[in-house]
Amino acid sequence: MCGIVAAVAQRDCAEILIEGLRRLEYRGYDSAGITVVERAGEMCRHRQVGKVEMLASALAAAPLHGGTGIAHTRWATHGEPSEANAHPHHSSHIAVVHNGIIENHEQLREELQAKGYHFVSQTDTEVIAHLIADLHPQSDSLTQAVQQAVARLQGAYGMVVLDAKNPDEIVVARSGSPIVIGLGLGENFVASDQLALLPVTRRFIYLEEGDIATINRRDITIYDQQGAVITRDEVEASGQTDSADKGGFRHYMEKEIHEQPEAVANTLAGRLDANHIGLDTLSPDAKKALLAAEHIQIIACGTSYNAGLVARYWFESIAGVSCDVEIASEFRYRDFVVRPNSLLITLSQSGETADTLAALRLAKAKGYMAALSICNVPGSSLVRESDMHLMTRAGAEIGVASTKAFTTQLALLLLLVTLVARDKARLSPAQEQQLVEQLHRLPELLKQVLAIAPQITALAPDFADKHHALFLGRGEFYPIAVEAALKLKEISYIHAEAYAAGELKHGPLALVDSDMPVIVIAPNNELLEKLKSNIEEVRARGGQLYVFANESAGFVSDEGMTVVTLPDCDAMLAPLVYTLPMQLLAYDVALIKGTDVDQPRNLAKSVTVE
Ligand code: F6R
Repeated sequence: MCGIVAAVAQRDCAEILIEGLRRLEYRGYDSAGITVVERAGEMCRHRQVGKVEMLASALAAAPLHGGTGIAHTRWATHGEPSEANAHPHHSSHIAVVHNGIIENHEQLREELQAKGYHFVSQTDTEVIAHLIADLHPQSDSLTQAVQQAVARLQGAYGMVVLDAKNPDEIVVARSGSPIVIGLGLGENFVASDQLALLPVTRRFIYLEEGDIATINRRDITIYDQQGAVITRDEVEASGQTDSADKGGFRHYMEKEIHEQPEAVANTLAGRLDANHIGLDTLSPDAKKALLAAEHIQIIACGTSYNAGLVARYWFESIAGVSCDVEIASEFRYRDFVVRPNSLLITLSQSGETADTLAALRLAKAKGYMAALSICNVPGSSLVRESDMHLMTRAGAEIGVASTKAFTTQLALLLLLVTLVARDKARLSPAQEQQLVEQLHRLPELLKQVLAIAPQITALAPDFADKHHALFLGRGEFYPIAVEAALKLKEISYIHAEAYAAGELKHGPLALVDSDMPVIVIAPNNELLEKLKSNIEEVRARGGQLYVFANESAGFVSDEGMTVVTLPDCDAMLAPLVYTLPMQLLAYDVALIKGTDVDQPRNLAKSVTVE
């Protein structure tokens, strides 16, 4: 989704801004632009539809010199991807880049047009540029003009504003869309994601909701929502944050699939000893809330939601605690009933997903006993706004299709569930010790699973020419089927659906013919016999079956059925194990189809708008 990079530097900033945009490419975008103040009062701009590299070429052909500049990658919301709609937007000597959506842009546009402002784009952002240009002459400073302008805006924004007549400072504002300030020596930077600034600094200040900051080369002054000067903590980026290279893999997604053994090991590190599960990073209060919860409400979007669906099976069957899971965009617009002593858990890789954040804010106001976030990005909005958090520690996930974020969420959720189950005496010390032993072996087990990659590659051509695919599972493997279908559709553009296998005969069986591959997740568990009946239903209709099972499930490949054998494992770990081949399959099919695996069309990594 949209990305922002800005600088007030002592040196030419264009290259720094372009490198920052490159590092934000993974978020998904369709156009890019840059404005640099070349001399006081004179700003120059390049904008391009398409990749950042095209903007870099335009810049190489006509370089921009100057230490103060703003740059942006745009993911179209209001108006098609076009040069005119790309940011920065200018009005007189004011330039603006903006992430988010201004909901009252039509009304403001009419108002500004009546005052004689001429609009050249279809974007909501252009109203911000004109509004600030309109307010600036009567204000004491650019900061004051921005303060007055944001008071008129409804919606979400992270923005950077510059005044070409005063190139020594930039002003930034945050409401609903993240902004981080990068601290340099005699120069300062701004971005929507710290990853963009790691080549120039590792020291950061995150703005809070409603903050506005004036930034020059040496000083940063931050004002809170009420306009009072306020101090925000400085944080240092950890060593592992910057993993933005492909490490010899063809795509970030491939790299991230293969990183899962290590990522899961990081998730578990320090949270297990030889016999026990401990979540010592949770404060005593947080643990108390978790153990006191009589109901758990999980809220998330996309892949994170699918992890929540698995956790629901676990919370209810292992820990004996009732659990609901809901998509954030539905939850936030529904009149819901808060059950007594309910704990809210939000799941998110990025911690910036607009719907999940809005749902968290709403839920806090509605009286959940506490809000716990499970997240991958330290310092993200979700982490900062929740009462307590647990980090998944998967490392930076760059591929738009989420992989290691999912399995690390599952690993962490499993620890939570086990902690609650132990507290409720539903897990004996011997059972806990057995699970702990298995968890210690989990990274090795995941490596073993990844070793079947060549087998999956060999299957991929069967799918590449298909238009549809059906995934089936039962119990906690139904959400794994849902996640598998999501992976296939988002990166290979093949229409894929997942069904709880028992639902097959209630409709989807009508779709089954020899052109419809049916992928079944079939570990040997108490539902296997039921699943075998569903498999027979497909076979009887000439469907092509691909069954992923362990050896003891007893499947044998034959004409209508290809069996992929996975290692035996503890039932609680199996959802993680069966996820990996699904990710590999989606990846291999996308490779054959030649899609843009890391940045699939129309999608963004961090969905910071509704
Ligand atoms: C799918 C995918 C998305 C995200 C969803 C939520 O592969 O990546 O469905 O899972 O946008 O994002 P987070 O987890 O950052 O809240």
